[in-house]
Amino acid sequence: MKRKPIFPEFPHMLHGGDYNPDQWQHDPHVLEEDMRLFKLAGCNEMSLGIFAWAALEPREGEFDFTFMDRAMDDIYKAGGRVILATPSAARPIWLAKKYPEVLRCNDHFERNLFGRRHNHCYTSPIYREKVAIINRKLAERYKDHPALLGWHVSNEYNGRCWCPLCQEAFREYLKNKYQTLDALNRAWWSAFWSHTYTDWSQIDPPSPRGEMAVHGLTLEWKRFCSHQTVDFLKSEIAVLKEVCPDKPVTTNLMAFHDDIDYHELSRVLDFVSYDIYPPWRGADKHDIPLAKTIALYYDHHRSMLHQPFILMECTPSTQNWRPFNKLKAPGFHMLASMQAVAHGSDSVLYFQFRKSRGSSEKFHGAVIDHEGSENTRVFREVKELGERLKGLDALVGTYTKSEVALVYDWSNRWMLEASEGFQNRDKKLHDTVLSFYGALWDRGINTDIIGYDDDFSRYKLLIAPMLYSMSEEVGKKFEKFVAEGGHLLATYTTAMVNETDLCYLGGLPGAGLRRVFGIWNEEIDTLYPDETCPVRFADGEKAEAVDYCEHIHSEGAEVLAYYDDHFYAGTPAATRNSYGKGEATYIAFRDTGSAGERLLEEQLNRAGVRRLWDTPLPYGVTVHSRYDEDTEYLFLQNFSYGENTVETAMDLSDLETGEKLTGKIRLAPMETRICVLKH
Ligand code: GAL
Repeated sequence: MKRKPIFPEFPHMLHGGDYNPDQWQHDPHVLEEDMRLFKLAGCNEMSLGIFAWAALEPREGEFDFTFMDRAMDDIYKAGGRVILATPSAARPIWLAKKYPEVLRCNDHFERNLFGRRHNHCYTSPIYREKVAIINRKLAERYKDHPALLGWHVSNEYNGRCWCPLCQEAFREYLKNKYQTLDALNRAWWSAFWSHTYTDWSQIDPPSPRGEMAVHGLTLEWKRFCSHQTVDFLKSEIAVLKEVCPDKPVTTNLMAFHDDIDYHELSRVLDFVSYDIYPPWRGADKHDIPLAKTIALYYDHHRSMLHQPFILMECTPSTQNWRPFNKLKAPGFHMLASMQAVAHGSDSVLYFQFRKSRGSSEKFHGAVIDHEGSENTRVFREVKELGERLKGLDALVGTYTKSEVALVYDWSNRWMLEASEGFQNRDKKLHDTVLSFYGALWDRGINTDIIGYDDDFSRYKLLIAPMLYSMSEEVGKKFEKFVAEGGHLLATYTTAMVNETDLCYLGGLPGAGLRRVFGIWNEEIDTLYPDETCPVRFADGEKAEAVDYCEHIHSEGAEVLAYYDDHFYAGTPAATRNSYGKGEATYIAFRDTGSAGERLLEEQLNRAGVRRLWDTPLPYGVTVHSRYDEDTEYLFLQNFSYGENTVETAMDLSDLETGEKLTGKIRLAPMETRICVLKH
C-alpha cells in the first residue's frame, strides 16, 4: 500500500499549534514577532480561532474578521498553513445571557451560570443555530484561502447536560431504540425494586438526587450523551461540508475520555487528532511505564480510522493544571515528539504558540515565553525539533501494520465501572489493558486498539481484556475469528452481561463463548487488597493472583495453570482451547505482570506474531514501525535517561544520516533512530 497524506496539497510533517492572536490585537509588535519566530522555530502550521467567538462576533449578528483575515494572510506569507477552528467550545457572554437555555444543567438538574468552556447544551436548538451561523460565516470567508488546510471542529468536546431539552431528547432516543416500554422494562430489569415505567415521561436521567440503581438506565444515559455530542459534531460538520466540501475535518480527542464513545465519534471525521499532556518526571522509574501508557493512547487514536493522525496539542515544556507541573528534562521533548510520529502522527503541534499574559493558562508552557525572544531553552528545543521534522517528509501518510489488536469498547467500560460487585473501588480495566499493552511495547510489536465493530480478520492475535459486556452478535464475531484460525486471549470477567447489562444465563462466559474457550466460569472470587493466591503453571513455574480469581472448570480446554490455595486449589487458573482452526486462551486471574506476560508470550509465538526487532530489547527501549509500499521505517527509541545498546542482524540504514546500521547499535539517552528496512 502506498502512503496517503491527510493533506495531499501540503505533504509535510506539521509543526506549530494553537495560535491566539485575538488576545494580542492591542500590540501589533507582538503579531509581527509571532511571524518572525514562527519561521525561526521551523513551524509550518497554526491552529487558529479555537476560542475566538467573542472576537469574531462581539455582539449578536455583528461580525468582525479583521484579526483572522490578517492572521490567515500572515501565516500564509510566512510559508505556513492553517487548521481553522470553529469556535463552539466557548460561547460569548452575550449568547449565554440572552439565551440561558444554551447553558448546561448539572446532575442535580440546576442551570449553570456563564463560565468556563464547554458549558453549553448540545441539544439546545438556539445553540446549534448560533454555532451554524458562525461556522457558515467562517467557511464562506476562508474556503478559498490558500492557507486553509482543514477544519478543527470545536475543541475537546466533553461533558453532559441534564436540562429539560436533553431530558426530552433522551426520552425520544429511548423510544426510537426500544419502541415499547415493555421492551425497555425487560431490558433494564426494572421490576427490581418496583422501578417499572408505565409512561415515557416518567424516565428521568440518572441523578444523585434520584435513580442510580437501574444500570440499564445509567448505561443508556451515557450512550445518549455521547450520541448527542456526536450529533452536535455532525451538525457542525454539515455546514462546513456544504460550503467547503473538499477540506478534511477533525476534532481533537482525549485518549479514553469517559464522556464520549470515540469509536462512534471517529466515524464522522476525515482524520483523527489528539491532545496529550503526559506528566513526565525525568526518571526512568516513572517515565518508562508512562511511555507505555502514552504509546497505548497514540495507537488507539491511529487505530480509530486506521490511518495517520494529527498530534493536535502537546506542551513544549510544562502544563499548569496538574497538581505538580514539572518541566520536561532537556532532550525529552524530542523523544516524546518522535514517539508520536513513531505511532502514526504526522505532526507535532502545541498548545500554544505564545504564552498568554493573563488568565488561567498564563503559566502553561508555550513556544514563546513571556520573555518574548528566541533565547529560551524551550524555544531552542522546539527549533531543533522543527529542523528534524523538515527532514521527515517521506514519513507523511505512511501507515502502520499490526498483527495484534487489543479490543476496547466504551459501553463495556461504562457497564463494568457501574456494576456493583467484585471490587467496587476500581475494577482495574485500565490496569489490565495496560499490562498487556506494556508487554507488547517491551517486545517491539505494533498493536492496534480496536472496537467491536472493527474487522477482526486483519489480525493474528486479539487480546480481550475484561470484556465484561458483549452482545451475542459480538460473541459470534469472536467465535468466527477463532474458528477461522485466529488466536484469542481473554481475561477474567469475559462476557458476563449482554449489551443492555443483563446477565447471561446458562453459564459463563456468555455470548456463545463457553464452547469457544472450552470452560465454564462458575464463580468469581474477589481478593482483598492485602491478599494473594498462589498459582502454579503445569511446568512448576509459580505466579501470584491478585484482585480476581475465577473458579473455572475445563470443558475440554487444556489447563495451563492451577490455583495453589483457597478452596479452589487444584482447579484451573488459565486454559487454552483449540476451536476450529484457532485457539482461545482464558486467564481466570489477575496477576501483577509475570503470568499474564508469560501467557501472552506463548500465544504470540503460537500465533506467529512478528517482533519488529530481531533480538530482545533492553528495558526502556522499544520499536514501532510505519510502512510505505516495500519500505518499513523502524523507530528505535530509548526511553531511558541512560545509554542502551541493541543488536541486529537486519540490514538497516538510518533515514536521517544514511548510515548503515547492523550489529551493535548504541543509543544515547532519550535517542530515537529511524531505521529503514527494505522488504
Ligand atoms: C487542552 C485544551 C487547550 C489548553 C490545554 C492546556 O486540553 O484543548 O485549550 O487548555 O489543554 O494544557
